[in-house]
Amino acid sequence: MGRIVLDQVSKSFGKTEVIPPLDLTIEDGEFTVFVGPSGCGKSTLLRLIAGLEDVSGGKVSIDGKEMTEVPPAKRGLSMVFQSYALYPHMSVRKNIAFPLRMAKMDKAEIKKRVEDAATVLNLTDYLSRRPGQLSGGQRQRVAIGRAIVREPSAFLFDEPLSNLDAALRVGMRLEISEMHKRLATTMIYVTHDQVEAMTMADKIVVLQAGVIEQVGSPLELYRAPRNTFVAGFIGSPKMNLLTGEEAAKHDAHTIGIRPEHITISNESGTWEGVVGVSEHLGSDSFFHVKCDGFEDPLTVRAGGELQLSYGAKVFLTPDTAHLHRFNDQGLRIE
Ligand SMILES: Nc1ncnc2c1ncn2[C@@H]1O[C@H](COP(=O)(O)OP(=O)(O)O)[C@@H](O)[C@H]1O
Ligand SMILES: [Mg+2]
Repeated sequence: MGRIVLDQVSKSFGKTEVIPPLDLTIEDGEFTVFVGPSGCGKSTLLRLIAGLEDVSGGKVSIDGKEMTEVPPAKRGLSMVFQSYALYPHMSVRKNIAFPLRMAKMDKAEIKKRVEDAATVLNLTDYLSRRPGQLSGGQRQRVAIGRAIVREPSAFLFDEPLSNLDAALRVGMRLEISEMHKRLATTMIYVTHDQVEAMTMADKIVVLQAGVIEQVGSPLELYRAPRNTFVAGFIGSPKMNLLTGEEAAKHDAHTIGIRPEHITISNESGTWEGVVGVSEHLGSDSFFHVKCDGFEDPLTVRAGGELQLSYGAKVFLTPDTAHLHRFNDQGLRIE
């Protein structure tokens, strides 16, 4: 079990309101990601759920029980942080077993839980090693193992992969997703990285300045961002946002078109422009094209083999089926 409900939860530090009252439900077994720019209140919200911070207002419930005044250790949650403090002189087995030994659990039960966690995390062959003999990714897995053995009703992760290099992050992302499939336990995962959010989440909660901008599945957010903030935040490279005359043609204050929904041609098209910087990733190419009458260059995604020289004249055509329209408040127009 692990259904978490926030009812008008708010947080102020002194006179500064970091999180205005918000409502949020996280269903049992769901992988929910809190994503937003640095300082938007993701960690604070997670800490309010964990009980590591007191709410300034509202209620936190877990599986129908109010937990607002319950201390962190009694909420049945396990938290994994970015900086994982392992005991360097203890073996992996002892590090993972630590919270259970503290709780004076039966030895045979501890052994079973540690070995089950090691299986889930592919750490079976490393149980007798010390943390110093492990890679960064393996150490992070040990920290997760310590959370798993407590059999929490939910796992809370605060940017657990930020300290790892890019290749390792991709690997760990898959491992955490795999672990979620195997354990089917509620997970809340905080990140500023929208790619992590898109690839891992069942449900994404986009935050800006303590306010929930949108809640939805990765594809819901991609297909129908509720406002220009979500439109610009979700998707890589970013959605192109255009104002002025071009938007007015579509009865909007701002129109949005993703780089993958524009075709580029050197013969004809809707908008005429000049190629600026090109980025070749092998699988794709991104071209930054300065078009007449538009303030910012447009980013266009094309096939990996396309080569266009700097300064070349090109034509762009947006796929109007994928055009997003927003009003002067930045809100989506359906
Ligand atoms: N203990 C604290 N005292 C005062 N301000 C805090 C405290 N913790 C966080 N804040 C402020 O709350 C805001 C949100 O912080 P945080 O939740 O850490 O953001 P995020 O995790 O999204 O980067 C920031 O402006 C931060 O400076
Ligand atoms: Mg944070």
